[in-house]
Amino acid sequence: MQTNLVSGALGAEINGINLKDSSEKNCIQINKLLLEHKVLFFRDQDISAEEQISLAKFFGPLERHIYVKGREKYPEIIRIIKGPNEKHQWGETWHTDVSYNVKPTKVIILRSVKIPPVGGDTMFSNMEIAYETLDEAIKKVINNKRAIHSSLGAAAFVEKYQEMKGNGNLDEYSNEHPVVRTHPETGKKILYVNSMYTKKIIDLDKSESDDILNQIFIHQQRLDFTCRFKWTENAVAIWDNRSTLHQGLTDFFPGRGLGHERVMDRIAIEGDRPN
Ligand code: SIN
Repeated sequence: MQTNLVSGALGAEINGINLKDSSEKNCIQINKLLLEHKVLFFRDQDISAEEQISLAKFFGPLERHIYVKGREKYPEIIRIIKGPNEKHQWGETWHTDVSYNVKPTKVIILRSVKIPPVGGDTMFSNMEIAYETLDEAIKKVINNKRAIHSSLGAAAFVEKYQEMKGNGNLDEYSNEHPVVRTHPETGKKILYVNSMYTKKIIDLDKSESDDILNQIFIHQQRLDFTCRFKWTENAVAIWDNRSTLHQGLTDFFPGRGLGHERVMDRIAIEGDRPN
């Protein structure tokens, strides 16, 4: 097995692991690598939907998205489709998946089905480093605080992304989580807010909360906390959704990135209640 680090902050491209093999031994090795690197990339993995599901089941119960319809035959898999002339794609801008849920996603397994010749890379950012490097005065304010995460706007995903199918649910969900959570497997502290879903820090007045959150959102997006993956077909990314942010880049500009379809198959594994 060969591990090539993708950046100095997080991410490793792994050669020599076959994702068709969902034996306990193989999955334990993948989880060990995942905890170390936070996001793993694998190329030339021609895995079937059943094999992707079988691999995902090792990590825990599979999650159904509250707004987006899964594939007809495999409801656990969301097919993320960006049409050739769409300038937006699902997952654009920094976020951690479904942090408005009581038990937000633990791990995502994303497989590329159709990749444009240019554009649509995915970026990841390391929220352990973001916490470690955060201004001490901000740490003092946020330690032991909780924040409200809201799905408001998630329903609009379905209207905004023309090729994605909604499941009919447009309700809003909100839940509160610690601003700094502890990773259940590594014990490390993680900055657990994101600009897509985190609306307010509880026990601060609105203007102080807005000010602190804005400073944190800017900090979280520091490029030196990130890595970037250029997809090829049949590549797989597995990421720890608890300790990272991610975004699918929407660089679909006329004459360059625009004019191509992008198709991905996504499985989410349910996490625990953040502590
Ligand atoms: C996501 O945000 O889950 C999808 C990211 C991507 O398609 O690159």
